[in-house]
Amino acid sequence: MIVRTAKKSDKKEVLKFCTDTFEWGDYIDQVWDIWSADPHGKLYVVDQTERSENNNNFPVAISHCTVCPGKRQIWLEGIRVHPAHRRKKIASALIAKTLQFGMRQGAIEASAVVATENIASRLMLEKNGFNVISRWVYYACTYNTVESSRKKPTNARFASLADLNDICNYLTDSSIYKLSGKRYFKAWRWYFLNRKTLRHFIKKRNLIVTGYPSPTGIALINKRGYWHRGDVLQIVYLDSLSKSSLQNLVSFLTNLRISSIKPPPNSHSYFLQLLAYQSEHLPVVMKNFNIEESEQFLLYARRL
Ligand SMILES: CC(C)(COP(=O)(O)OP(=O)(O)OC[C@H]1O[C@@H](n2cnc3c(N)ncnc32)[C@H](O)[C@@H]1OP(=O)(O)O)[C@@H](O)C(=O)NCCC(=O)NCCS
Repeated sequence: MIVRTAKKSDKKEVLKFCTDTFEWGDYIDQVWDIWSADPHGKLYVVDQTERSENNNNFPVAISHCTVCPGKRQIWLEGIRVHPAHRRKKIASALIAKTLQFGMRQGAIEASAVVATENIASRLMLEKNGFNVISRWVYYACTYNTVESSRKKPTNARFASLADLNDICNYLTDSSIYKLSGKRYFKAWRWYFLNRKTLRHFIKKRNLIVTGYPSPTGIALINKRGYWHRGDVLQIVYLDSLSKSSLQNLVSFLTNLRISSIKPPPNSHSYFLQLLAYQSEHLPVVMKNFNIEESEQFLLYARRL
């Protein structure tokens, strides 16, 4: 079986078997051009091994990987095997190729995320040496579903660099930070959350803090969306000591979203998306905002 770098001409064949992968469809059409131009990664395909009628080879599987900033981590995504070619160790071959690439780049860890109910993919990752390091819950709502017009009282605020030490100390003691695998997510990839990233988030006004004099909760946000979806506010890490501090953080974020709406909003576009470790208070507080859990994800990793 030959795993090779994808060519422009593979796109059409690949999209033929990457449209109805999941109940809701697939997203490969949205990312193919971004992934094939990724200067830090590789978009691989596997050609069918049996000879076709006209002797033309065409791809029956794909996957993308990218080296994360800092080069410690390689991220795996978009593994797809044509339904007629599954259980022939094709995905395993793609992973082996990816791990080799990661090692050549000096990465020490490979990671990937899988929906909890995707048993085939979970077993495939586990068979290839990956272990679950964290469980994340995904909440999303559109303008249609959320009670979005009314601002709520909150004592949360944007953090400043003067808060950096207190926030680092807060995270050092936080069980949620440990249970989150010490990571945050961005555009469906998970990255390490450390002092350097916190500083970056503060500078971009993407870190919200609640509690005085010491933090009792923090939220990290992404105001720029992902892929072609620039219109969504994402909460990319959420951590709080109590239900009231969580309520303050989510109120601040929904208020922020209400202020940023350029009327008239498209009622089907996302109001906000949240991915976070499922803490004790999260389901209760999200219910107060009429924001429903849609899926859970498992974060997997293995050493290289
Ligand atoms: C998940 C997927 C990529 C697996 O591809 P594959 O080429 O069939 O996987 P492999 O042949 O390398 O499987 C390796 C091992 O994974 C496990 N596995 C894979 N598919 C499985 C299934 N449907 N049921 C149970 N175990 C499975 C088995 O342990 C298997 O080893 P075995 O065949 O010796 O028992 C493929 O089913 C697929 O494309 N699914 C749809 C897309 C998807 O879910 N992608 C992952 C998104 S994160």
